[in-house]
Amino acid sequence: NDRPYDVEVPARKTLADTLREDCGLTGTHIGCEQGVCGSCTVLCDGEPVRSCLMFAVQCPGARIRTVEGLAADADRPHPVQEAFRRHGALQCGFCTPGFLMLLVGVLTGPDAADLDDERLREIVSANLCRCTGYRPILAAAEEAATLLAARRETPRPPE
Ligand code: FES
Ligand code: FES
Repeated sequence: NDRPYDVEVPARKTLADTLREDCGLTGTHIGCEQGVCGSCTVLCDGEPVRSCLMFAVQCPGARIRTVEGLAADADRPHPVQEAFRRHGALQCGFCTPGFLMLLVGVLTGPDAADLDDERLREIVSANLCRCTGYRPILAAAEEAATLLAARRETPRPPE
């Protein structure tokens, strides 16, 4: 999240536990602790990863982005957060940070221009929402994809 953390952890401590306990970033949620639910998804050097499956000692010097690092400030949410709000895609909200980080990683990643709705549906299915309310999440994902694609295509004004 664009700030350095200097922490000392046992070799077997997961990235998820380290983020929560040593960095105070409790927005990263832990569900299954075995790589299935996706609640713990964060970005590691831009790639979505299951932080319950990584040891913190595997990522010294990596750029880790968590849900706390998405909004520019309280009044300026990330476009994916804004789409979730608009579509009511946060139900109990436990899984939401994982969905947000998954989608931000994918929609800003190298393959973002090649995503269609079917591929987006497949990507969203990687994370579990126990409220079974995938429709608003998918609607938000599709809207965010369209918005971010339009931004990519908008030429920057000359400096
Ligand atoms: Fe990491 Fe479920 S807590 S995938
Ligand atoms: Fe995802 Fe409830 S909103 S588990």
